[in-house]
Amino acid sequence: MEHDAYQQIEHLRDELRRHEYLYYVLDQPEITDAEYDAMMRSLQVLEQQHPELDSPDSPTHRVGGAPREGFVKLRHSSPMLSLDNALNEAELREFDRRVREGLNGESFQYTAELKMDGLSMAAQFEQGRMVRAITRGDGEVGEDVTENARTIRSLPLRVKDALARFEVRGEVMMNLAAFNHLNAQRDREGLPRYANPRNSAAGSLRILEPKITSRRKLDYYVYFLLVNGEQVEHSQKAALEHLARMGFHVEGHHQTCRDIEELAAFCLHWEQNRDSLPFQIDGVVAKVDSIGQQQRLGWTAKAPRWAIAFKFPPRQAETLVEAIEVQVGRTGALTPVAHLKPVPVGGVIVSRATLHNEDEVQRLGVQAGDTVIIERSGDVIPKVVRVKSPGARRTPFRMPKHCPVCGGEIVRQEGEAASRCINTDCPARLKESILHFAAREVMDIEGMGEALVDQLVDRGLVKNVAGIYGLTLDDLLKLERMGEKSARKILDNIERSRKRPLARILNGLGIPFVGERTAQLLAEAFGSLDAIAQADREELQRAEEVGPKVSASIYEFFRETHNRQLVERLRAAGLQFTFAHANTRGTALRDLTFVLTGTLPTLTREEAKQRIEAAGGKVSGSVSRKTNYVVAGEQAGSKLDKARELGIDIIDEVRLLEMIP
Ligand code: IVH
Repeated sequence: MEHDAYQQIEHLRDELRRHEYLYYVLDQPEITDAEYDAMMRSLQVLEQQHPELDSPDSPTHRVGGAPREGFVKLRHSSPMLSLDNALNEAELREFDRRVREGLNGESFQYTAELKMDGLSMAAQFEQGRMVRAITRGDGEVGEDVTENARTIRSLPLRVKDALARFEVRGEVMMNLAAFNHLNAQRDREGLPRYANPRNSAAGSLRILEPKITSRRKLDYYVYFLLVNGEQVEHSQKAALEHLARMGFHVEGHHQTCRDIEELAAFCLHWEQNRDSLPFQIDGVVAKVDSIGQQQRLGWTAKAPRWAIAFKFPPRQAETLVEAIEVQVGRTGALTPVAHLKPVPVGGVIVSRATLHNEDEVQRLGVQAGDTVIIERSGDVIPKVVRVKSPGARRTPFRMPKHCPVCGGEIVRQEGEAASRCINTDCPARLKESILHFAAREVMDIEGMGEALVDQLVDRGLVKNVAGIYGLTLDDLLKLERMGEKSARKILDNIERSRKRPLARILNGLGIPFVGERTAQLLAEAFGSLDAIAQADREELQRAEEVGPKVSASIYEFFRETHNRQLVERLRAAGLQFTFAHANTRGTALRDLTFVLTGTLPTLTREEAKQRIEAAGGKVSGSVSRKTNYVVAGEQAGSKLDKARELGIDIIDEVRLLEMIP
């Protein structure tokens, strides 16, 4: 029996690894995401039943284990040195001349690779298992990020190869789609954006909570294969091919160049075509291909003589700042923006550049009328790099004291770079605030999506979040593409949302730094919205996980007149302003609706139902948009299909039990 389970588990792990490789490395999946998820669930259930068979390289560990206190420092097997740079073609040719000289006219070739703009990391393998991952650090000593690295799907945790011990080195990257997605999410949560994909990859890899790293969709591209700190193959090209055969993600655009002309052409090609890639590169790395010749060329104290980083020139241009204006973002953050005399930069006409915040304007010393250098770097939005020459007639910039859109108060908290309009009714913020308020994990008002909110705000039907509760059937029927049936349904959903618990309302208010978890902790600690609104900064800090920054943010929020009025309107709408302690029922699953389908591995249908209800949840017989989770077991049927169709979270018994204390 035990043996069977072992075989079954190993089989599932192998299959999952194979599909991860097909999906994340080759980008050629053979099965659907749902099939992959189902296979993962089966493995989770089996591992749960046989904890003694757990293994750190099981695909189930991709989701991230327990948080860390800090990172341990580890020494590299051999130093992770850097590369010398060539900043233009002349310097590239100079490098080629030194190589030819060093090799006494012997024939040789280059392997040219893209210079991936991420952060370098080494991963060590023993008996085919990934045992250690270390960031570059200062090149000698880096940080042990093994647990976080395990969550990177394109890094195989197990490799079939004859080498008993080896190490790979490469770049941890975040592709542009994942980067933009992450920043959009941070905007919604009122958190500062990451400046570029490299920073966000570095930040994500070095988070103390592997679960968060797991969600960040990192990638790992390798270019070195080492044994005892030495390269093993006879050439770089062979090493890349070996790595690819082992199942690692090797960037596919590398090319053999027979001479400097081919190399220069490769560099120029990628300088011009870098925007066609799904990730960022900042140059080309050229390596003498033969490892024997590399050894003869040797190293300087800092870098190999056999390789060079050809850095793309920054895409800069010079232009005039016509004005500096302030833009109000979705979270109320004010961003000074330089309006420029339009100028082409790297093939794009730029007429605006961000100045980020007040401090940055000071640092640059930029004023309207100045001639500046702007740059399109890794970031999507161009920025001002420096003042080239001050204008004869200059206008100094001052952060406004009142919001340019609504006239509300602007607050800049201590220790924060951003100044914010703290009026939630500000039209610049309103649509986003309503969408946040109505979101599924917040007040859960189904149907209150972008199309509807746009119309409600544009027609002045809703002037603040509380306005939702004053909507009538007539109001809704005036809107485009709105039939009576849908209108009634929306009103129904709004009605239902009045009963949501305090924590959700608190989250829904959109107070900067107060998300789902903080809201829950505050609700539990203070018991009512009024108690929170009246508390001073110190009192607020008595709640778990609330520090000076968060408490200041909450305090300011409830001191703003518009916000106080909003709270009163919500009260008048009959929302629950007190924390309901459930006496007999648990609260872990409160307000959540589950649908059970298929045979669960350990619980009967009735037992599962009782457990869910005891924790405050509801069990329904059919899947609809109101379903929060579908709990699926073996031979799950049409309910599972329906759940997939509606995009409802599908979980297994293990996950369900994890949700119940
Ligand atoms: S080879 C001895 N190959 O660029 C160091 N590096 O500027 C050899 N990088 O530290 C590094 N793509 O973080 C190499 N295809 C590539 C690369 C690459 C990006 C990074 C790496 C290195 C830095 C040097």
